[in-house]
This record gives sequence, C-alpha cells and structure tokens, in this order.
Amino acid sequence: MVNYIIKKSGKFLPSKEMKKIAWIKDKKIYKEAEKNPIKFWGKLAREGLKWEKPWKKTYEEKPPYFYWFKGGKLNFCVNVLDRHLDNPNKTALIWVPEPTNEKTIKLTYKELYDKVNRFANVLKKLGVKKGDVVAIYLPMIPEVLIAMLACTRIGAIHSVVFSAFSADALKIRLLDGKTKILIGADGYYRRGKKEDLKKKVDKAIIGTKVKKVIMVNRFNKNKNYSGKFVSFEKEIKKADLYCKPVIMNSEDPLFILYTSGTTGKPKGIVHDIGGYATYAYWTTKWSFNLHENDVLWCTADIGWITGHTYTFYGPLLNGSTSLIYEGTPDYPNYSRWWKIIDKNNIAVFYTAPTAIRMFMKAGEKFLRKHKLNTLKILGTVGEPIDKNAWEWYFKKIGKSRCPIIDTWWQTETGGTLINVLPGIGPFIPTVAGYSFPGTKHIVVDEKGKRVKEGKTGFLVQLSPYAPGMLHGIYKDNKKYKETYFKKFKNKYDTSDGAYIRDGLIRVTGRTDDVMKVAGHRISTAELEDAINKYKLVNESAVVPIPDKIKGQVPIAFVVLKSKSNLKIEILEKQIKQEVDKTLGPTSRIAKVYFVNDLPKTRSGKIMRRILKNVLNKEELKGLITLVNPNSVEAIKKIVENNK
Ligand code: WT7
Repeated sequence: MVNYIIKKSGKFLPSKEMKKIAWIKDKKIYKEAEKNPIKFWGKLAREGLKWEKPWKKTYEEKPPYFYWFKGGKLNFCVNVLDRHLDNPNKTALIWVPEPTNEKTIKLTYKELYDKVNRFANVLKKLGVKKGDVVAIYLPMIPEVLIAMLACTRIGAIHSVVFSAFSADALKIRLLDGKTKILIGADGYYRRGKKEDLKKKVDKAIIGTKVKKVIMVNRFNKNKNYSGKFVSFEKEIKKADLYCKPVIMNSEDPLFILYTSGTTGKPKGIVHDIGGYATYAYWTTKWSFNLHENDVLWCTADIGWITGHTYTFYGPLLNGSTSLIYEGTPDYPNYSRWWKIIDKNNIAVFYTAPTAIRMFMKAGEKFLRKHKLNTLKILGTVGEPIDKNAWEWYFKKIGKSRCPIIDTWWQTETGGTLINVLPGIGPFIPTVAGYSFPGTKHIVVDEKGKRVKEGKTGFLVQLSPYAPGMLHGIYKDNKKYKETYFKKFKNKYDTSDGAYIRDGLIRVTGRTDDVMKVAGHRISTAELEDAINKYKLVNESAVVPIPDKIKGQVPIAFVVLKSKSNLKIEILEKQIKQEVDKTLGPTSRIAKVYFVNDLPKTRSGKIMRRILKNVLNKEELKGLITLVNPNSVEAIKKIVENNK
C-alpha cells in the first residue's frame, strides 16, 4: 500500500510518493500567485476552461462589486460535458441507490451529454429562457445533475433546494426566485423507507408562480400526470437529441443557492459562470490532487454548496468521475460507506466532521472487513474538526497513510479558500492551513486592524476577491453590502473567528448568530421565527451548545403567552414539530426550556450570550446592562432542574 505521508520532526508532510503524483509540490506557487493574483487567475482561467470569446478585462472592482473575466464568453455545460466527448465512454457519474438490491448505475460522459441535451430541450419547450430561475427539488439521483446541467446549457439559473427541506422552506425559495418551473420527484429511499416528496411539492407550490412541475419518478417510471405536472421520463423521451448551448457572459449568473444569514429569511447567494467555473476547476484539481482517472466521492448532498462544487461540478469540469449515493450512512448498517469506497475504487473521499464522529461512536466493527486501500486523499468540511475526530479519520479511514485536507469555505465563496495542498502540507489536526494560491486572508480586530500571530480575531478576505466568490445576493444589493462589506472597509467579512500561527490559519467558528448543526448552517433568527409560529408562544431565544456528534445543537428558551394546561413534554414536542414543519428536520431543536422572562437590555434586545453562559455554566458577565437581571437566576434554576 502506498504511503502518501511521512512524519518529520513531529509533523505530517507529503511523502515522496505523494510528491510524485502531486500537481503542486513547490511552495513557490504561493509567492508567484501573490505577486500578481489577477494575472495568475487569468492564466488559470484560460488553461482550465474553454472560452468562446476571450475577456477584455481580467478583473474589475467597483466596491463592493467585482467582476472576473468581463467580456469573456462561454457556456458552462460545454465546459462540463462537450469538451470531454473525445473520451465518450469515460464514466462521469456513478450512482449508488440506497436499496441494496438495486444495481449501481454508471453514466458515461456521452450518455450524460445526451440526456442533458434532451432535457434542455424539454425546458425550452416549456418556455424556459436565458436568465429564468428554475427550481430543482430532487434527492441524490442522476436526474439532479441532468436537470442542473440542462439549465446551464440554455443559460437558465438553477436554484437547488435541499430535498429534506420542508414544503414551507421550498415555498419561500420559489417565491423569492419568482420561479415558474420546478423539477421535483415522487420521492426517494431513506433508511429503507420510501420518502414522499410529491406531498411536499403539492403544498409548496400553492400561491407561487409555478406553472409547470416536471416530476422525476424514482418509484414508478410509468406514472401519468395531469394539470401542472408532467413526467420527466416521458418528456425526455419525446425531446430532440441535440440542444445548442447558449453562449453566456462570464459574469452572468450560473446559479442561486440559499443559505442562512442572521435574519429569519434565507439569502439567495448568486454565483457567476466564468469565475465560479475557474475556481471550481482549479480548487478541485489542486486541493484533492484530482487526476483524470480518479474517482471522487464527496458525500455532501446537492442541496448544499459542497454538493454543487465538489460532488458535481469540480470533478466533472476536470473530466474525472464522481460518485453519489442516495441514502444514509447507516443503511443497512454503518459499513455501507466503506463498502462503497472499496467497490468503486474511491481515490478522494470528502466528508464532514459530523459524519466522522457518528462513525466513531458506532464502533470499529463496521470497518473490519474493508480495505480502503484505494484512498489517496481525505477531505473534511463544514465546521471545525476536533482533534479526536481528525485522528480517528486519519488512522481508521486513511490507515495513517492519507493526508487530510481540512477545507475552510462558505456557500458565499463557491469553493475552498483555506486548506493545505496534498503535495505541500503540513497536515495538522484542527488547522485548515494556507489561503489557496491567489487568494488572501488575514485576521483583524474589531476595528479592522491586523492582529498579531497567535491572536484570535475576525477572518477577512482581501481584494482581489477569489474568482469563486458570490456575485451578490439575489435581488438584494443592500443586504449584500451590509452583510459582507460593512463591518470592515474593503475587506470581505467571513463572520468566522480565526488565528494564524506559523502562517497557518486555524478557524475557530462563527462570530455571528449563525450556528452549524451537523454541518448545516442555520441562524438563531430562523429557528426563533419558526418557534414563534406556534400559537402558544409569546417569544423565544435560541442558542447553540456543543454536541459530541453534531458539533452544535440548538437549545430554545420559550416564554408562553399564558399558562397552558398542556403538559410540558407535549408542548416541547409540538414546538419541535412546528420547527420541523417550517425548516425541515436538519436543525432540530434539542431541548426547550419554558421560562417566564428572557434576559433583555434596556433597548429590548435579547441577550443570547447570557443564555449561552448559563447553559455552559460559564461566568455571568454584563448582568448590569439588563432591565431584568433577576430573570437570569430563574432561568438558571429551570435549566438545573430540567436536565
Ligand atoms: C461556515 C460556512 C464550506 C461548504 C460547507 C459549509 C464553517 C466550513 C470549515 C472548516 C472550520 C468551517 C464556517 C463557515 N466551516 N468549513 N473546514 N473549518 N469551519 O458552507 O453552510 O455556507 O457554512 O461553515 O463557520 O463560515 P456553509
């Protein structure tokens, strides 16, 4: 078995074997890129993508807006598919269905190309035009990729909505995008059970502008539809085989993906074509040292940015093979993932700390029969990884021979920004590493002044901003400015805390009212809004506490309108259900405390920090600024009595 790392003076570094296969093995690249990042990205964009027309200006900045490759023309789908057709039988996608009696399906580049062309024609026939927003509410099945690429072929903007999200969550996104076309499915398998999506689709489209719903049939391919609904399978069969790609401007929008900010309403993060494609291509290639014949498995669902960039677009822009799996990691037992890795010769495996901690807890017996010897690179993303999880991942999955690439980034950044490269290292638990070549991050204090090495502060990105960075918030310029460019002048505010030691960046977590529950991003405001919908609730406050598996979980403090006759357990259950109904089950409230009063400042602001201190049994500071300092003692008692 090849050893890709060595230990040298207590540090893990790339081995000779890794250096041999590494795209980047010389640290010089960082210096070169820093000297002239614009030129650096210009060269990479030319080399990595097929352009129909060269750009006039590589980078232009009109704060807080910036544009990459202005005037350049290209089509995204052509870059993903058409240019790989010289190798038509190469596998593009491997799909593993959840039921163990269903066969794995492989799609070659040519097969995928044909389906995408046909489906693009279906969309055109239904009236979809360049610039229209098409919503995609699909599970992890090949059709999700076909639908996305078909949009990009005709210049439509896709807006993928996580299939586990609730009908309400889908509806908000349909309304925001004024979406006329929705691509949905009858359902999917989850832990051996059929999960119904149609029911949620029916509910979500009421009161929206949706005119047509194209239904993928996971369960019954011959199903007939009527009214607004048409069958994906039937339409695609009738469609023409070729669809001419629409040539787009580099800075035209490619997709919208909603994410949580500090308010109750999710933000539609917009990514453009040329900058995003350039960034997805190169960060995939270099960060995971991806070669054409490698199979990459990124376990992220397509509902998240990691699913967009590293499950699909990055590996396919590189002409490699991507694997997707429909189901849960524990079905039929905790061996499933390792079986998939061995069977499909996975070289690059990319997952989240939450999943790693879940496997740690499940125990090693599920690993025993699996070799995992095709693995070269392991990746992690979504939240800070703790040392225990890192070491377990390193030893048990990587067999102490694969580097772990800890990638720090965000929905807004389109691709990974801070991570070490496999051929350079060092690989240190809990440390993300260096800014990706051609990007720059520093740590500053409250006033925007750079702090000393080793000191924790706010992580910001400096101009020129990375090509993968967001291209605004959909129809909300004001929010875009305020969220990312208001706190620090001419710096992108990441809302994460970090410190730098020996030039390596360690990210410590969010500095705003956003939490990461099992890697999912959710704001306190969204959770509170959902709780407040429950008829008996007067007001609420949500704070995160650390959790052994999920990283963080939300805890709610609720003030009722009046005393209720219902038992506390029933009330708690109903409130949790209300939140599930609004947001879906991904960020479920872990515990509800019923209190009489929430700690507030004179101006009426709820002091969530104090609630956090109470839960974590930390020293209580700043009580003097409260109008109701006595509330804190009462809350403390309630927390202690209701473990
Ligand atoms: C937030 C962004 C990046 C795609 C998936 C999450 C946290 C992400 C790391 C990491 C420490 C991390 C940050 C960031 N985060 N990766 N490797 N180490 N923290 O995207 O849902 O937009 O969340 O996730 O807090 O701001 P997202």
